[in-house]
Amino acid sequence: MSDEIKKGLLGIVVDETTISQVMPDINSLTYRGYAVQDLCEKCTFEEVAFLVLNGDLPNKKELSKFKKEIEVNRNISINLREIVKHMPKKAHPMDVARTIVSVLGLEDKQTTDNSPKANMKKTIRIFAKTPTAIAAFFRARKGKKIIPPKKGLSFSENFFYMCFGKVPSKDIVKAFDVSLILYAEHSFNVSTFTARTITSSLSDIHGAITGAIASLKGPLHGGANEEVMHMMNKIKTPEKAHKWINNALDKKEVVMGFGHRVYKRGDSRVPTMEKYFRKVSNAKHDKKFVKIYDIVKNVMIEKKNIHPNVDYPTGPTYHLMGFDTDFFTPIFVISRITGWSAHVMEQHTANKLIRPLSKYTGSDHRKVLLLSQR
Ligand code: CMC
Repeated sequence: MSDEIKKGLLGIVVDETTISQVMPDINSLTYRGYAVQDLCEKCTFEEVAFLVLNGDLPNKKELSKFKKEIEVNRNISINLREIVKHMPKKAHPMDVARTIVSVLGLEDKQTTDNSPKANMKKTIRIFAKTPTAIAAFFRARKGKKIIPPKKGLSFSENFFYMCFGKVPSKDIVKAFDVSLILYAEHSFNVSTFTARTITSSLSDIHGAITGAIASLKGPLHGGANEEVMHMMNKIKTPEKAHKWINNALDKKEVVMGFGHRVYKRGDSRVPTMEKYFRKVSNAKHDKKFVKIYDIVKNVMIEKKNIHPNVDYPTGPTYHLMGFDTDFFTPIFVISRITGWSAHVMEQHTANKLIRPLSKYTGSDHRKVLLLSQR
């Protein structure tokens, strides 16, 4: 056994997966063999969710059955609605999201059944109900009436409807759908590895996703999309962007929305998301954030050779769509539930308890003194 320490499991291959492949050398990301860029242009989020969960793209009949299953499971219990209504208004929506999935686990009759069939059923329920409960908190904390889901709307349309009471133009819905497709899955990232680690003790999917949400919240992971917006708000205007970013680099600050553990020459998801960010910016007749975006990006690449990651364009895109900044990472959650669930199910099919080793560097062996002697 080697004593070499690989902090952060850097470069360690811990298992196999058939769900997605990140290929940093050729700047590519595939879900079940399909390039994510291609999926964004040719599919809806529901088709991609089906793909991630089932291994292949659906035909018309399969898609219609899948959409129906989501639609009939969208409503949340009165109990959960009341819990959401009474959450502290200042609570971070990611903490609320984590609690929502935990409560769904308390309510689910199959919580402890880890059979493939039960896991798929539970996945559908978590996937369908979590956006409803998150949208309920979006409104409840502002003292607004909660809007229940509406039949006949797509996943994205329905989320807008439950948050704002209306569905925006097709362009905006498409950009949102694209962001969900790009956020759906990304191999062994921190939150997915968390979900797999929890699963490896044969715990249940609600617990695995609850833990994954806690992990996604961190600013080095999904929380970065919120931090990007805080940064853009601090910068304020395109005229101040150059000075701000140069100053941040001089002070050796970590610039949110840049860098990646796996991609060192650019995140494969960025060009597509950036394209849709520009579309949303045009549709909203608001160029301020695009200008700040370009200036900061150019300086980061020129001075540091550090490229943006997917959270850099999604942050300002969600802002322009009207979402509160602290709801950006919960939006990531409603998409990544698909990837996490697929990984939980994959872990169950060939499970091995995840239990790494550590090198002890603490005190030498010592004798316990009685309290009276210390
Ligand atoms: N700003 C400034 N410097 C950076 C950045 C950044 N965003 N990212 C990396 N660096 C520097 C870092 O300081 C280090 O320099 P040095 O070798 O001189 O000490 C070098 O680049 C290598 O970085 P690292 O932190 O050792 O790399 P890592 O693989 O451990 O970390 C990361 C990857 C994503 C945690 C890091 O790039 C980072 O903190 N980025 C900002 C947070 C962020 O945007 N996270 C989203 C990640 S991707 C999507 C997602 O998961 O949601």
